[in-house]
Amino acid sequence: MTPGEQTLADWLVGARAVFAFCGAGVSAESGVPTFRGAGGLWEGRPVEEVATPEGFRNDPQRVWRFYADRMASLPSVSPNPAHRALAEMEECYDPFLLVTQNVDDLHERAGSRKLIKIHGSLMETRCTACGEVLPRPDPVSSAEVAAGRLPRCACGGLLRPNVVWFGEYLDRRQFDRIYGFFRAAAHVPTVVLVIGTSGVVSGGYGVPELAAQIGARLVEINPDPAFQEVADLALAAPAGELLGRVWPEVRARRAGD
Ligand code: OAD
Repeated sequence: MTPGEQTLADWLVGARAVFAFCGAGVSAESGVPTFRGAGGLWEGRPVEEVATPEGFRNDPQRVWRFYADRMASLPSVSPNPAHRALAEMEECYDPFLLVTQNVDDLHERAGSRKLIKIHGSLMETRCTACGEVLPRPDPVSSAEVAAGRLPRCACGGLLRPNVVWFGEYLDRRQFDRIYGFFRAAAHVPTVVLVIGTSGVVSGGYGVPELAAQIGARLVEINPDPAFQEVADLALAAPAGELLGRVWPEVRARRAGD
């Protein structure tokens, strides 16, 4: 382990509470493309066409083509050591909370339950008429979409992916849970992990500021760090590789091995 990784390990061994704020980079080593940068989903693609309410109103078939392809790719990818480490952490820390911007299902498949999917889920649809949110265990068929048969609700309304698009509001109740974590963690040693997010969309959703308010240690894990000015420690490495090295040691030391 590098000296920085050793520091993270020491902090995690001594922590009572852990909060993780994650983005697309956590799933990169599983083979899920990130949004920004070379090879990213938004590279050369007009975001407003596929990730805004206007884009969906103008051309729902184009939007569904994009999301059906994303859904279809999920069964062939698997959680990596970063997802698994985060899932194990929820058994070791109290309070613990994982907030992800990712709409894939890799955190759930790794076992995470104390999880907020702040940008929604690819595994759900929402009716544009009655508003019902429905789980979607099987992907929407790209062939059906190509044939112009878009998914519909039992009420007849057009279904949309249950993801947050640009220009849409986040669910305020999720922020209540986030603030609840920081109230509960205010008087215990806390590590806040910011992993694999460019912060371009969220600016961190106030997480670095909340961490500072309670005196938590803020650690960023990202090969191209975006929060290093506010982080106590910025580790420039892929999250799966790094947590695959650091977490087993932390787990063993906490268990007293
Ligand atoms: P981005 O694509 O903006 O950023 C991905 C981040 O992951 C970058 O900072 C990369 O350096 C980093 N990264 C790449 N590989 C990594 C690895 N192996 N380990 C750790 N980090 C790695 O994705 P997000 O910040 O998640 O929103 O984007 C936030 C939102 O913007 C998404 O939820 C989506 C998008 O537009 C909507 O669709 C509304």
